[in-house]
Amino acid sequence: MIKIRLSILFFTITLLFVGCNKKDYNDKWTVISKGIWKYNASSKEKTNLLDVAKTIPDLARLNQFEDTPFPLNKDSIKITKQNGKLFLRFPLAKDEQIYGLGLQFKQVNKRGQIYNLHVDHYGGVDNGRTHAPVPFYVSSKGYGVLINSARYITVYVGTAVRTDSPDPPKVYNRNKDKDWDAQPASDAVEILIPADEAEIIVFAGKSPMEVVQKYNLYNGGGCLPPKWGLGFTYRTHTMFADTDVLKEVKAFEEHGFPLDFIGLEPGWMDRSYPCSYKWDAERFPKPETFIKTLLQNNVRTNLWMNPYIAPNTLLYSPMLPYAGTHTVWNGIVPDYTLDKARNIFTDYYQKELLNIGISGLKIDECDGFDNWLWPDVAKFPSGVDAEQMRQTYGLLLQEMITEEYHKKNIRTYGLVRASNAGATRFPFVIYNDYYQHEDFITALVNSGFCGLLWTPEVRSSATGEEWLRRTQSVCFSPMAMINAWSSDTKPWSYPDVFDAVKNIALLRMQLLPYIYTTFAQYHFDGIPPVRPMVLIDGFISKDKIDISTPNNAYNQAKLKDIKDQYMFGDNILVAPVFTGQKTRTVILPKGKWYDFYTGRYAGENEIITVACKLNEIPLYVRDGGIIPMIASRLHTPKNGEHIALEVRYYGNAEAKFLLYDDDGETYNYEKSAFSWTNLTVTKDKTGKLSGDTKRISGNVFNYKDITFKFMGH
Ligand code: GAL
Repeated sequence: MIKIRLSILFFTITLLFVGCNKKDYNDKWTVISKGIWKYNASSKEKTNLLDVAKTIPDLARLNQFEDTPFPLNKDSIKITKQNGKLFLRFPLAKDEQIYGLGLQFKQVNKRGQIYNLHVDHYGGVDNGRTHAPVPFYVSSKGYGVLINSARYITVYVGTAVRTDSPDPPKVYNRNKDKDWDAQPASDAVEILIPADEAEIIVFAGKSPMEVVQKYNLYNGGGCLPPKWGLGFTYRTHTMFADTDVLKEVKAFEEHGFPLDFIGLEPGWMDRSYPCSYKWDAERFPKPETFIKTLLQNNVRTNLWMNPYIAPNTLLYSPMLPYAGTHTVWNGIVPDYTLDKARNIFTDYYQKELLNIGISGLKIDECDGFDNWLWPDVAKFPSGVDAEQMRQTYGLLLQEMITEEYHKKNIRTYGLVRASNAGATRFPFVIYNDYYQHEDFITALVNSGFCGLLWTPEVRSSATGEEWLRRTQSVCFSPMAMINAWSSDTKPWSYPDVFDAVKNIALLRMQLLPYIYTTFAQYHFDGIPPVRPMVLIDGFISKDKIDISTPNNAYNQAKLKDIKDQYMFGDNILVAPVFTGQKTRTVILPKGKWYDFYTGRYAGENEIITVACKLNEIPLYVRDGGIIPMIASRLHTPKNGEHIALEVRYYGNAEAKFLLYDDDGETYNYEKSAFSWTNLTVTKDKTGKLSGDTKRISGNVFNYKDITFKFMGH
């Protein structure tokens, strides 16, 4: 009897023990929404990326995804604390690739690299120091990991081999084995966070694209720029006066070159580096009239600034109590985590700049370099560490300015040189001074993994060919921009290529309905406007790659680092050409593809070699690709201006495209003031194609006379 009782007791204790363990175990990861989990054994620090960005996850949209199981074996994730630091270890399979980790310029596939994620001006090496070192990575296996921490995090992407590795690599002898490798394959992504708190979030989806979508929606969804932001922009020479700018605007008109907004560089202020934020009385004696005149010419104005306030200027004394211990170029560094500091700047901005019609800012120099910026020993009145301030300063400024426009129900679209996780919803595009065309395209591809927008801006060029090639690329990016702040180059400065430069800028204008819808997809569904090939459905997935013929060139090419082509929206594959390139290869994903310009069949599931025509950037459209376009024009249309829509259709497959529209300039879309229209192409029994249009929802619709053009038919 006693024996039985004892064994019951023993059994109960065991059950309790296992039960407790199980409970602990399951409690480690809390479900946030379908396919998103938070590790709750460690809380986040008070200053962290997502809270600085004031991120509000779009849970309603996130919960529309299908449920997904936790993507990894929980036992294989190790998270430990020691000496005030966090050590993270995530498993990495042999055939797994890792993407993301912010705006890097050299590689798309991050496997085998080490990144010390640190906001900085990019210095030509992918070591983690960059304008937007986002601590988020996406795996080819369909999951992602976000570290919500404003610390200098180090990520070892499959570089270190551990003694306790469950799957250690083979040991070779360099004296004899040709397979010896200086970097034996590691089976882990390991992360060092120099703090004992950090929020760790895991995302899972049906595909890597769905993971990126969830990341973006977790950050509130992508920004929806005003329509004018998607037109063409030009930044004038820094020392231009109002009369020079007006002359420039006239010259654009005379050359038939599109222009939606113009950027004024440091010379608009009476002093810069550090800044006064005050108009220079000689160059801009009547700013209000000047801005109005530009607006009458359908041109908006964007102003350059950096955040450092000059002594003896209006904002200096009020801001001094809320500034850090160190200066930058002798200007004070406001602690914008404090409401008081924020109000001093935003009150001024509203009154003096926003209210006279300034459409946005270019927020410069908030990223680096170390020898210029505040050091890590600096202190800020809020108590936020200098390191955290460095990692979040770009976010703080973007959030502050976005909010000012939001309050006024006016959309803005500007530029910024530092960003981080949480920035998805901010209408700011990153740029820099690095100016390597090839690497600019790699950055464009990388921006698509982490909720970033990047422009491969055009400044000046050694030849007309280079000028054209760069302009062609920038027209297929989030901001089509020439930045002539120091060069004073004009679109027409290279007469040998001017026609082609103008044509591509006008094509950008024609594509507005397509590009605007692409951004609506970013906003509502989290799908980035610039899409890396590896996120494209069926491009790289184990079942699609024919592993029975591993030497197949097509499969091999797809497994390489694909950094010179990308999708711009659903249907256009962009293959930029660099100076000197006479031919280039393009990897066409599954399905048939067609030449954008002619509608001619280009290939299918193969690598094509293209002879590069000087006046064209190679563009391909998928079978059944629908591209809504308008006639070329110099300024994006205003709300209420109903314009004819030409719907281009490519290939033979039956197709549909959901066209988005709204007023293009306010936030009324947040209150459902928008429309979705279904554009469809169907075939009858004889194979004849016909197009149809059907409004699905809403009534803000600025198009009329919709015609279908069957390309190549
Ligand atoms: C740089 C910036 C340039 C230009 C210049 C003006 O920092 O990257 O685009 O604005 O400042 O001084």
